[in-house]
Amino acid sequence: MIILNSTTMELPFAESYKIKMVEVIRKSTLQEREKWIREARYNLFQLKSEQVFIDLLTDSGTGAMSDRQWSAMMVGDESYAGATSYYKLKDAIRDLLGFEYFLPTHQGRAAENVLFSALIKEGDIVPGNSHFDTTKGHIEFRKAKAIDCTIDEAFDTTVQHPFKGNVDIGKLESVLKTHSANIPFIILTITNNSAGGQPVSIENMRQVRKLADQYNKPILYDSARFAENAYFIKIREKEFADKSIRQIVREMFSFADFMTMSAKKDAIVNMGGFIAMRDEDVFRKCSVFNIMFEGYITYGGMSGRDMNALAQGLYEGTEFEYLETRIRQVEYLGKRLMEFGIPLQQPIGGHAVFIDAKRFLPQVPKEEFAAQTLAVHLYLEAGVRGVEIGSILADRDPETRENRYPALEFLRLAIPRRVYTNNHMDVIAVALKNVYDRRNKITKGLKITREAPIMRHFTVELEMV
Ligand code: F0G
Repeated sequence: MIILNSTTMELPFAESYKIKMVEVIRKSTLQEREKWIREARYNLFQLKSEQVFIDLLTDSGTGAMSDRQWSAMMVGDESYAGATSYYKLKDAIRDLLGFEYFLPTHQGRAAENVLFSALIKEGDIVPGNSHFDTTKGHIEFRKAKAIDCTIDEAFDTTVQHPFKGNVDIGKLESVLKTHSANIPFIILTITNNSAGGQPVSIENMRQVRKLADQYNKPILYDSARFAENAYFIKIREKEFADKSIRQIVREMFSFADFMTMSAKKDAIVNMGGFIAMRDEDVFRKCSVFNIMFEGYITYGGMSGRDMNALAQGLYEGTEFEYLETRIRQVEYLGKRLMEFGIPLQQPIGGHAVFIDAKRFLPQVPKEEFAAQTLAVHLYLEAGVRGVEIGSILADRDPETRENRYPALEFLRLAIPRRVYTNNHMDVIAVALKNVYDRRNKITKGLKITREAPIMRHFTVELEMV
């Protein structure tokens, strides 16, 4: 038995894992980066990954799998039908998320494609909280419309609100009142990616469920970062302080009729996704499209080994210690940036820090894409690759073909799971501080020279104004 004395310090926080395998990354010179970004036509998606030192383009599919996930891959069952890997994943989904039926898909947008093929038709209206771009794309592709009902607080980066991902119940009710006949379902995105990785509270989920029941509408959870959402509920929603992450996860999903999952996020795999549902009829309808677009119902878009890694990843992704490590690292970066006075979405999100480009570069007109301009400057500064979540991503209005300018113009710095150390976070913070210190010299932005008709951000070509 040791005896504590007055000089005993509280132990500092440390990661809940150690590193077993590494990948070398390389710095570059400013001259190299200037050449590369010009060749990429100022679109960071067009850079080669070797041209990037720290890659914050996305937290999707970029995480480090654990030794247990890799070992699960070795015992994957590659049978075409009825593989043990399928049943392993089915059991994990039932056990952790509470859904009886599921269909594997190759990633999140494939899950959207299959489910929406079964449920959405031309002229439909799908209300939700800041639909993700692929979600909106799959709605608009079917000549239906997505209506954003996120709370107003989300659109002011200086406002403190513990659940900025929430749905505004008043807005949702008015959409339901006006369009009830054309609404196939309501979408809840957890966490709310587009608003800054912001969580949705259980209280809000309960209210949405109540309203949905009044209008007899099902609810879809777009669940890419559901575990991060559960972590925030545990930390911020009093009622759930003493509940485990897995208890909170079960509670969250109890209000959903179906879910789409991009497993590349909170299930910590490099590829994979699924749809899960309670209703057998929806399962049967989706099965037809799943077979057509993805693969037979017991593998969808995935190999057996990938389903094994995914099942294991769902368990690891819902452990408190892992989530605490992950979200505290994102918070660490956010706090360092705040110390330098850099404007960002507050509170800091679960998977990323969202820099407020309108406040960072107020002199760059909206037609010249401030967030994309900032992304280019951060890359030039230190080879750090972020991503624009702003006007380029927002695309054009499908009817008027005018540019859409969203309320928020973000540079997102998404942190891959279990990949970088806090030393990397320090490099990112200082690099962005250096750009911030010379922000007054950045007076001009970018203009588009070529773009695709939908989802233009991946392939857009730009030049400096
Ligand atoms: N829903 C949300 C909330 C997402 O963030 C994403 C992907 C998807 C659906 C689609 O999933 O990529 O597996 O097809 N988000 C990534 C990102 C691409 O960078 O935020 P997917």
